[in-house]
Amino acid sequence: MGYALVTGATRGIGREFASILAQHGKDVIVVARRENALKALAAQLHEQHGVHAVAVAIDLTEEDSADELFSLTQDAGYFVDTLVNNAGFWDLTGFLDSNWHRSRDLMELNMITLTHLTYLYGREMRKHHFGRILNVASVAAAFAGPNMALYYASKAFVLSFTEAVAEEVRGTGLSVTALCPGPTGTSFGVNARMEGRNFLTMVEPMSPKAVVQRGYRAMMTGRTAVYVGPVTKVGFFAARILPRRVTRAICKWANGTPGRPAF
Ligand SMILES: NC(=O)c1ccc[n+]([C@@H]2O[C@H](COP(=O)([O-])OP(=O)(O)OC[C@H]3O[C@@H](n4cnc5c(N)ncnc54)[C@H](OP(=O)(O)O)[C@@H]3O)[C@@H](O)[C@H]2O)c1
Repeated sequence: MGYALVTGATRGIGREFASILAQHGKDVIVVARRENALKALAAQLHEQHGVHAVAVAIDLTEEDSADELFSLTQDAGYFVDTLVNNAGFWDLTGFLDSNWHRSRDLMELNMITLTHLTYLYGREMRKHHFGRILNVASVAAAFAGPNMALYYASKAFVLSFTEAVAEEVRGTGLSVTALCPGPTGTSFGVNARMEGRNFLTMVEPMSPKAVVQRGYRAMMTGRTAVYVGPVTKVGFFAARILPRRVTRAICKWANGTPGRPAF
């Protein structure tokens, strides 16, 4: 049996993915930047579930990080048959007021590294005629999101890319799944430097565990996309029936203005 590799595994949704995979007896490679947190997680997964757990500390916004991670696992002889591309972040800011380096990092992490890892590990999985890939998108994938323009666009990319590749590999033993959660109770908003309230901080978030249970089932059954939670379901339905100018205005209102509450 191969390994499962989870990016962004130190907290939130990624940590739950690492746990559920280990619970099911899967050896895991946990990836994020903070080495101590990763090592503690790997030790915990080993102790609780008896699996082999490997910690890899790497900054996935770095240009060659996907190559580096892939080489590292290949050289160690770990065959990755399950890949969870989860690491990502958002930034609440007007695009022209954003810090370009942070914006570039967002695009690198949310899109380029995710795509590159899908490519590298997907080709390896194809050689073995088996593999599962799950890419974490969001309800944001359904919309254009003023004041979070790059984040929404990056998630629209993840969903579209994942759906297309899922069709390409259908029937080959590989599956590629997009997970679209709505607001989830993690430290995500803190990292987005959200000040004051916005819509996402005002609805009751889902627990990362509940989100991951749905995502895990969808991945294991080879579904192409899974929409989790009421906000996501209503969001994608609204995106189908309302004109884009209306959903843009709703998102602008819901996202709020950086530094100022939406309501
Ligand atoms: N929370 C929500 O409401 C929500 C809703 C929809 C979609 N999502 C998506 O779900 C995914 C996970 O979100 P979350 O809420 O669980 O986030 P989170 O709590 O902020 O955790 C993010 C994880 O990614 C890692 N990470 C961040 N930057 C990284 C980098 N440059 N290189 C490597 N690892 C990095 C972090 O660990 P280190 O700090 O140790 O690197 C952490 O383990 C994201 O793709 C997000 O867009 C979240």
